[in-house]
Amino acid sequence: MAAAPAVEAPIVADIPELSIDAGSFRCLAEMTAIRHFFVDNLLGDLDATTAVAESTDGGVYPPGSVVQLVPSEVMVKHYPGWNAATRDWEFFELDVSAEGSSIRNRGFVDVVNKFGGNCFGCHVKAEPKYDLICEQEHGCDPIPVTREMIAGIQAADPRCTE
Ligand code: HEC
Repeated sequence: MAAAPAVEAPIVADIPELSIDAGSFRCLAEMTAIRHFFVDNLLGDLDATTAVAESTDGGVYPPGSVVQLVPSEVMVKHYPGWNAATRDWEFFELDVSAEGSSIRNRGFVDVVNKFGGNCFGCHVKAEPKYDLICEQEHGCDPIPVTREMIAGIQAADPRCTE
């Protein structure tokens, strides 16, 4: 009998692997602000990421996209084929301080927010055209934090030391 596949391993092995480590993440104020959230692109394709983020009608984020609402929670888009079930998104929980970021947890199966909610389990409820981006009206369950509270959390990102 074949061994069960490791759940967090890429399903397709022959796609380029995006290299992501603690240094991939930075102070929110150094990222690009789109409405109430922030984006970046680890492959230098920021224009393609911002084009999708700015669209009010959804779209598929390009590989390398980084999306953040609060300093400690991140979504990163891998190359197409990384994992069809997550639409190639990987979820991260970071510890952030004046020294920078460290990765506490990553993947999609076990990554939960501070309220105990599974990132993927909630974000997958977004209507398909929104590519797992929730905002307030895309179909995800709400989070118990108002936009005003979010703005305060963003402004208090401890990594922004300048
Ligand atoms: C209970 C459902 C739920 C859970 C669990 C959850 N989120 Fe979200 N997330 C939301 C909602 C709703 C928003 C939009 C909030 C707003 O725009 O005011 C959001 C916003 C975001 C955004 C900004 C882009 C977007 O989708 O609007 C990112 C990035 C994000 N969450 C990552 C995460 C990560 C990483 C985790 C786990 C550590 C997580 N979320 C857990 C519901 C959830």
